[in-house]
Amino acid sequence: MIIFKIIRCLIQVIDKKHYLKKKHVDDCQNQSYCWDLIKQTLRWYYRYIEVLNGLLEKPIKKKNRELELLLIIGLVRINHLQEPNYHVVNHSVDLTRALKFKWADALVNKVLRQYILDQDHYEELYKNKPSLMMAHPGWLIKATKKSWPEHVNSIILSNQCIPQKWLNTSSSQKAQSLLSKYKDQLSTTDILDTALKINHHSVLDNIVSADDDWGYIQDMSAQMIHLVLKQIPKPKKALDACAAPGGKAYILLRDFPDINLTCTDVDDVRLGILNQNLRRFNSANKNISVIKKNWCEDNHDMGCLFDLVVIDAPCSGSGVIKRHPEKKFNRWDLSELCQIQSEMLKNVWSSLTAGGFLIYSTCSILKEENSDQILSFISSRKDVEVKLFKLPVGLQSDVGWQILPNQEMDGHYFVILKKLS
Ligand SMILES: C[S@@+](CC[C@H](N)C(=O)[O-])C[C@H]1O[C@@H](n2cnc3c(N)ncnc32)[C@H](O)[C@@H]1O
Repeated sequence: MIIFKIIRCLIQVIDKKHYLKKKHVDDCQNQSYCWDLIKQTLRWYYRYIEVLNGLLEKPIKKKNRELELLLIIGLVRINHLQEPNYHVVNHSVDLTRALKFKWADALVNKVLRQYILDQDHYEELYKNKPSLMMAHPGWLIKATKKSWPEHVNSIILSNQCIPQKWLNTSSSQKAQSLLSKYKDQLSTTDILDTALKINHHSVLDNIVSADDDWGYIQDMSAQMIHLVLKQIPKPKKALDACAAPGGKAYILLRDFPDINLTCTDVDDVRLGILNQNLRRFNSANKNISVIKKNWCEDNHDMGCLFDLVVIDAPCSGSGVIKRHPEKKFNRWDLSELCQIQSEMLKNVWSSLTAGGFLIYSTCSILKEENSDQILSFISSRKDVEVKLFKLPVGLQSDVGWQILPNQEMDGHYFVILKKLS
């Protein structure tokens, strides 16, 4: 039964701190419903566990965790999945019996019905009680507040939205032709003429199956590297140091079709996807190479120097929480991440030619991984100059540019560094 799989998946992510994987629902009949329900439950877990504990006379015992999750799922379905309330109640009662909690069917019935009767009261409570409004763990709120005290509320609220899907296309003409074909399902933005907002997910299947040049699904914030690249001279030889699965490489190859591009990454599986993507992106350019490399350990000598190095560093992903609500359950080790980023920065710098540019980016909003990281790098060297620039969204950070997540976009950080002779 679908709900069993969903509960098993939630236990893996929430209690056992495992990664959320699509394969958890691979063989479910209605995969997109399962996926939506899992993501919404992860997104709102911290709210409904608190609500549930208020509704119960005594807490549910640890050994009955599946029952507890079934109730939380019921509350999520009532509030976030547009399912008729009493269908959810009846279905949850049936599932309680099927899950071998027959003794609890009256409890499930009572709790969910009570919630529905008091729903207006809860709606009011959600607006007024921060823990229920935010549905975030304390450590995540604290980390966000430390970096962005004035923006913490808007960041946290945006983390609760269902993420917007964006398509990055090969040219503004391609974007226009897709737009005229799928008028109601896509829309444009003033910020990038190659970006299309996907209003109905179903359109993607049609676009992808129509031709190979359908583009790349990529959040608008990551697509902004297109504008960052406009700030530097046209590169001839570039290194995409953390290239997989190929989102930034797609833009490099589109914006500089003749570029000599070397892509490196440490992860075999992701390198496989990168190779597939590169074949699809650009069959004409013969100057693309892919090399497996660990920038923290291996020899850093690439045998040549590059006039552009892009380092889209591994990070906490604190800017993509609406896309990955599972991150709320797996506290990152920030000092370890910062250590990796700092090693990588130092090591890729030696592959940059004097006068060349390095673009460092992350999908994090934490200053420790972004501006603090760069400030510390700059302070340790004499051959770095920061190139100032602005983007149409986001704000100037202590150094570099920070896009904070909002309803439509993820968070992303960019900085441009020039290597002095
Ligand atoms: C943010 S992702 C890159 C996304 C990619 N630039 C894109 O646009 O599709 C970070 C990448 O860094 C890679 N990575 C992590 N540690 C690394 C290391 N020590 N050396 C090289 N690559 C590493 C990860 O495997 C991951 O693919």
